[in-house]
Amino acid sequence: MPIMLHVDELKPGLCLAQAIYQGEQRLICGGQKLEQWHIDALRRRFPTLVVRVLDPILDGMAEFEDDTQNVEVATTITSRMSRLMSSVQAKIGARTSLDGSDLTGLQAAIKEVMDYLVAHPVTAAVLMRSGGTTGYLQEHAANVMYLSLLVGNAIRDYVYHERARTTRSRTLAVRYGLNLTPLALGCLFHDLGMLEFEDLLYTDAPLTPEQFQRIRQHPLTGVNLLPKETDAVVKTVVRTHHENMNGTGYPAGLAGDKLHVFSRIIRLADAYDAGTSDRVYRQAKTPARVLWELTCGPNRHLYDPLIARILSGMVQPFPIGAKIRLNCGRYAVVVRHNRRHPFRPTVIIAFDEEGRRLKKKQLEPPFSLVDHEEVRLVEFAGQDLTFLNTGPQPPPALGESPASSDSGVYEALHAMTAETTETNLFSMVYP
Ligand SMILES: [Fe+2]
Ligand SMILES: [Fe+2]
Repeated sequence: MPIMLHVDELKPGLCLAQAIYQGEQRLICGGQKLEQWHIDALRRRFPTLVVRVLDPILDGMAEFEDDTQNVEVATTITSRMSRLMSSVQAKIGARTSLDGSDLTGLQAAIKEVMDYLVAHPVTAAVLMRSGGTTGYLQEHAANVMYLSLLVGNAIRDYVYHERARTTRSRTLAVRYGLNLTPLALGCLFHDLGMLEFEDLLYTDAPLTPEQFQRIRQHPLTGVNLLPKETDAVVKTVVRTHHENMNGTGYPAGLAGDKLHVFSRIIRLADAYDAGTSDRVYRQAKTPARVLWELTCGPNRHLYDPLIARILSGMVQPFPIGAKIRLNCGRYAVVVRHNRRHPFRPTVIIAFDEEGRRLKKKQLEPPFSLVDHEEVRLVEFAGQDLTFLNTGPQPPPALGESPASSDSGVYEALHAMTAETTETNLFSMVYP
């Protein structure tokens, strides 16, 4: 299994484990032995790039979890959904709303995707980023759908399992359960009401008060763009995808048990994708940071805690092969995920304090961080991880802007929010 190195750590002679793409354009093939000019070009063009390189010695020391299928499935589904979302956008642009025949076609396409997912189960969610070559709303809808379906599948499987375990009757249709089609459609449609504001997603210009008010209504605007025969659950989740568990969301301020389970799933998938996306006005946060904020951060009360836990077990904070600095100063490489304790994977210490690769005879077997509480993760890909070493954070005081509220699609509104008493209302997507 390859290890992941930052572009600044690349050296001539290392062999790429995977091709490097920009959007759908392949820049360098997998298997390519890197030369200095490759490295210089990559550093110039992608200063934050992390690539996978082959490491036969580590491969012989540890049985790395294979995530090839996870990557393939995510790429297949999200690119397909992204194209589907493009066609939805084009139809809305031409006609201002969808009709029944559009709905039938979309349902058929979604069924194919769901069947594909059942036939190709994944063990961890991996989101592929297009590097800005795809429209934000298309890629966002595709990612939200993919994550939501994975979480929905996990919940459905649990329900099946419990039914089979607890019922005596073998004639009961134990596979009868949650129909995930409305969840998938809800994800695809959830930000239709944002289409008229799409230009604003690519600028850091402040919004006018009128734009702000209309954006707050985008869940309702989106519902009005749907065909009248759309399933009631789909309409519900589009309308409530920005509501929070503690009643601080919008547009209606619904709370807790008033929220459909699909709305709670989308709320989390939406926040995760927004937090980990690069925007013109904000650099993406790492998956580790976002997962920690959703499950342990001061704004965790906005989300369903059980679904947040499921999501953090499916979306791994560190990819297999990630090189992470430990509190002892040395660097470890992630060998295996830990679903129950996502921030405590199995690792092998493979680099010294200076970042030099340890010799084969210096390597010790991999170990689970769960069994070594004294070992702490402190840095990954240049980003500080010491927040992981703190417990759950208390919620922000009333009226105080949450520390992490400056993320998400609406961050472009900062200039305006600073002048209003409704600052938190702009943290609409993330947290
Ligand atoms: Fe939204
Ligand atoms: Fe969204």
